[in-house]
Amino acid sequence: MNAEPVAGPGSPEREPEPGTQPALLELRGVRAAYEGIEVLHGVDLSVAPGEVVALLGPNGAGKSTALKVLAGLHPASAGDVVLAGRRVNGARADDLARLGLCLIPEGRGIFPNLTVRDNLWMMTHRGVGRSEVEEKSIAHFPQLATLLDRVSGTLSGGQQQMLAMARGLATDPVLLVLDELSMGLAPLVVEGLYEQVREVADKGTSILLVEQFARIVMNVADKAALMVQGHVIDTGRPRDIEAKLTQAYLGG
Ligand SMILES: Nc1ncnc2c1ncn2[C@@H]1O[C@H](COP(=O)(O)OP(=O)(O)OP(=O)(O)O)[C@@H](O)[C@H]1O
Ligand SMILES: [Mg+2]
Repeated sequence: MNAEPVAGPGSPEREPEPGTQPALLELRGVRAAYEGIEVLHGVDLSVAPGEVVALLGPNGAGKSTALKVLAGLHPASAGDVVLAGRRVNGARADDLARLGLCLIPEGRGIFPNLTVRDNLWMMTHRGVGRSEVEEKSIAHFPQLATLLDRVSGTLSGGQQQMLAMARGLATDPVLLVLDELSMGLAPLVVEGLYEQVREVADKGTSILLVEQFARIVMNVADKAALMVQGHVIDTGRPRDIEAKLTQAYLGG
């Protein structure tokens, strides 16, 4: 007999509410710490298939830590991380990537000394061919076609973010996770990037994105979650959460 029964599709635990689908990603009571100091105090969060979820919250709330935990880059000290029905606590980042999870970290994670093409070709270690990576990247971001021979560090911030997303999308992730895509970029550039994010979502990729400011993602997110001091304190329509975020900033 199994010590830890896995809920089947028909079991009460897995039964979705009417009109909802089982989550693609779910965090339940996730706690995490740095050197013994807890910064996530039981985070609950879910992303349904095809959904764009914005995780919002002030500086230091624990947003990036939550993303690191769910991407296998930082251990959870308690709680469950469930990806496509599978508990994945303790799984390595590489294994999670193979399951379709792609995290684009703060700072973008590209190699500034390499050309755009070399940055894209590095993704072939995930089993996609070079020409396929290039074709997909250009299909998502046509501007990259003219930039393939450029050293990545000489690109504008917005172009670097496009490259980072193109790299991530090369492996057809099921869930794309974006940490502060807007960092250091002009509002118009951010708007353009989020339009592309919405297009990616409309083709079926689920997206979890982190931002400090709600307004930026108002037209992109289907759902927002508000994180304050290591807890998700509210989840709802982006417009409703935006008002609460303002209160959180004002210390309300
Ligand atoms: N490597 C680390 N070592 C120790 N403490 C850390 C580390 N990274 C983050 N922290 C602390 O953990 C808490 C949550 O940080 P985190 O970066 O997850 O917040 P955030 O919501 O992403 O903030 P921001 O909006 O500034 O990016 C903060 O108190 C931060 O100081
Ligand atoms: Mg952060």
